Amino acid sequence: MPAGVPAVLRVPHPRRAPRARGAARPGPADGSRRARGRVRQARRSGRRAAFLLCNPHNPGGAVHTREELGAVAELARRHGVRVVADEIHAPLVLPGARFTPYLTVEGTHDAFALTSASKAWNLAGLKCALALAGPGAAHELRRMPEEVGHGPSHLGAIAHTAALREGGAWLDDLLRGLDANRALLGKLIARHLPMARYRPPQATYLAWLDLTALGLHEDGAEGPGVVGELAGPAALFAERARVAVSSGHVFGRGGAGCVRLNFATSPTLLREALAAMGRAVAAA
Ligand SMILES: Cc1ncc(COP(=O)(O)O)c(C=O)c1O
Repeated sequence: MPAGVPAVLRVPHPRRAPRARGAARPGPADGSRRARGRVRQARRSGRRAAFLLCNPHNPGGAVHTREELGAVAELARRHGVRVVADEIHAPLVLPGARFTPYLTVEGTHDAFALTSASKAWNLAGLKCALALAGPGAAHELRRMPEEVGHGPSHLGAIAHTAALREGGAWLDDLLRGLDANRALLGKLIARHLPMARYRPPQATYLAWLDLTALGLHEDGAEGPGVVGELAGPAALFAERARVAVSSGHVFGRGGAGCVRLNFATSPTLLREALAAMGRAVAAA
C-alpha cells in the first residue's frame, strides 16, 4: 500500500444487514482480522490509522446506539485509531430511533464529527459543512490548511444557517412524509419484490434491498466505485423499469446483488416505481 493512499475497509454489520437466506456473508472475525491487519500496515508505514464512522449509516440506515458507539471508542483507544464520525444524516433520524452524537460518548475527546444541513434540507449544491473536534483534537482542526475553509460557498453558509435556525418545522414535516413513505415502501416491496430481503432503515431516505436471491449479480465484482455504476439488479431496473437505483456493488464487499433506493419522493411515484421493478423482475 503506497504511503499517503488511504486504505478503504468496509466493516461488516452482520447482525444489521439483511442477507438472502443461504448467501455467503463476511463473518465478524473476518472483518476485525482485516481491520487489525490494516491498522498494523498503516503504523508500519509511519501513518496513523483513522476509522471513518458513518452514523446514521448510508446505505444501511442503521442508527448506532450509545453502547455501540462506546464500543467503537474503546476499540479506537486500545488500537490507537482516530475516529472521524460522519453524521451528515443525523437530522434524518426517523420515528423509533434516537441519534447519539459521537462526541457525547465517553472516551471520544480526540475524535472528530462532520455534519451539514445538506442532506436534510437538500442543500448539497450550496457546499457547506461543519467539522467539530472533541476537546483533545481542537488544536488539530486549527492546523488544517487554510484552503480547507475556502471550500464552503457564501450562499451555502447563509442557507445552512437559515436551515438550522429556522427549518425545524419544515424538517418535522419532511420526517413525517419519510416515515409514511418508509411504511408504504415496506408494503410495496412485499407485493412487488417478495424475494427481497429488506430491513426498514432507522434513518435517511435510503432503503437497502438485498436482491441476491435473483442471482443477477457477479460475486467478487465489488469495491468502492463510482456511485452511478450499474450492475446486477440495478442495471435491470434502469433498462427494463426505467427506475434509477444505486447498485450495491459500488458500496464494497457484500454489496453485489443489492440496490439502494431513494424513497424521498411522492407516494405516487413510489407506487409506480415498485410496480415497474416488479414487472421487470417477472419478465427477466
Ligand atoms: C454519509 C455521507 N457523507 C457525506 C456525503 C457527501 O455530502 P455532500 O454531497 O453534501 O458533500 C454523503 C452524500 O451522499 C453521504 O451520504
